Amino acid sequence: MEQEIHPGLEKVCNFVKLKNSNQIKKLYESGFLYLENIIDLEDCNKLVDDLNNLRGIYPYHLDDNKSYSGVFRSPFLSSNNYRDLLLHKEVHGYLNEIFPTNYQLHLSRCVENKATQIAATIEWHRDIPYLHSPSKFPLCISVLTFLSSCSEIQIEILKDSHDKKFYNFEDCEILRLNPKPGDALLFDSNLIHRTLPTAETVFYNLYMFSSPVIKPVVDYSSNEVLRKIVSNQYRLSEVFNQIGYDFLVPKDDFEYLNKKIY
Ligand SMILES: [Fe+2]
Repeated sequence: MEQEIHPGLEKVCNFVKLKNSNQIKKLYESGFLYLENIIDLEDCNKLVDDLNNLRGIYPYHLDDNKSYSGVFRSPFLSSNNYRDLLLHKEVHGYLNEIFPTNYQLHLSRCVENKATQIAATIEWHRDIPYLHSPSKFPLCISVLTFLSSCSEIQIEILKDSHDKKFYNFEDCEILRLNPKPGDALLFDSNLIHRTLPTAETVFYNLYMFSSPVIKPVVDYSSNEVLRKIVSNQYRLSEVFNQIGYDFLVPKDDFEYLNKKIY
């Protein structure tokens, strides 16, 4: 019988028929993938330098801000190096496999952990704190890229807390990691983890990508942020594509029918 089906339905059906790559099988099983050397040391240094250039520029008045929490938000708005990291080819190869019906940037921030001023990420946490149930396949993926050399353990994760031990995470085994600059941890955002205080200042970058059924932390749709994004033309259409404007919710039916954000 000849049947017409929505192309989305076809993609969904193919998702379970397709054989996953070994890496993705590993991700589903253990909740994370450790990726060595996704960028080189020179790139790491450029990324850290860019943050230092952003210091003092709105909204990064970190040094004179009493509410300092060691976080630079959305450095890709102005930095080409952060745009390159946002669009990293190997990472998007995995994301395309995990999210066959598309995905979008959920959060962009870079963390600076100083020995004297520790970022808020030292608590055990999930990167999506409001999901109350594990999912068979990840709905959100965190990509943490380590940018600094450090002789100490920088991050700990609770094994299986994304899935089998979602609720009884007190019983989880702790995995301690000491990543090299340029290494990345790609994980199901339900996996519980924390960063540790270190004697040296360390930087790491977090991008989160989610299925469009989850609201992003910010949607980058204000006129002010749009002006900021387009003032740097570098890889602009790819950046717009990542931000996920296709999934922005129109304010009403009139806006839905006349949808045009940029
Ligand atoms: Fe986190």
